[in-house]
Amino acid sequence: MKAVTIRVPATTANLGPGFDAFGCALQLYTDVTFEETESGLEITGCDEAFTGPDNLAYVSYCAVLASLSEEVKGVKIHIDAHIPICRGLGSSAALLVAGAMGANVLRGNRLSTQGLLNITNAMEGHPDNLAPAFFGGLTASMVDNGLPVTVNFPLHQDWEFLALIPDFDMPTVKARAVLPEQVSRADAIYNVGHGALVLKALELGDEKLLRNAMQDKLHQPYRKHMVHDYEVIEGIARTSGAAFCLSGAGPTLLCITRDKTLKDRLADKLPALTEKNWEIMPLHVAFEGAKVL
Ligand code: HSE
Repeated sequence: MKAVTIRVPATTANLGPGFDAFGCALQLYTDVTFEETESGLEITGCDEAFTGPDNLAYVSYCAVLASLSEEVKGVKIHIDAHIPICRGLGSSAALLVAGAMGANVLRGNRLSTQGLLNITNAMEGHPDNLAPAFFGGLTASMVDNGLPVTVNFPLHQDWEFLALIPDFDMPTVKARAVLPEQVSRADAIYNVGHGALVLKALELGDEKLLRNAMQDKLHQPYRKHMVHDYEVIEGIARTSGAAFCLSGAGPTLLCITRDKTLKDRLADKLPALTEKNWEIMPLHVAFEGAKVL
């Protein structure tokens, strides 16, 4: 029977003001292998709770087969996940992307990457993690008539992305439930301007501009109380000169800096200031998106 392994990068979404629109792929990967069988579903490599038909890799695999008018036979799925689950680093998007690509490759690669993005975006509801997971690099996306349109943006080569990953999780659905249905015109205007300047600052490598632009009024103010130590870590990051934001819906916090000593300084200061265990993970941008191994 045919098998394929898909490698998908982690992604950090929003980048502060780019709520549901900006994302960046990072060099931390989840590999998912799909092997067609005569019947049944077998999922290995993950917690028992994720081995049923609601596993996102399988849901997405089936959705792509359905859009190709192909029969879903049996499949064995093996997940080798290095992207931590429910931490704001795109673990769900990675499974959706893997399932979509896996099904497409096994049935003759008839859909384009844009076609796979359209299908998975309909499932996830926003393209900010999916787009960089598929295309790599820094992306901004908009959705028109239900269809995502994505553009890649240039990134200065000196940035260091430091992910601070806590020992507690945060389901995205919970982090979205705290957001208001409506925002003020002033807050919307604030985010439009800040978002545009975040992209330019990332391109130029302008740390001061990035620090100022990477602020948000659409989601972070409503979410920060759900993340232990958010303000403590934001304070250290900003006084150290770094730009700071929630990674996706959190709880991972992200510092973006050109200062290669920030990691060690954070590691020195953090233990005295927090009861939680924060792993500080330097991550490089993944300029290549999901691929067949
Ligand atoms: N843009 C999404 C959010 C990313 O902030 O809710 C998490 O999936």
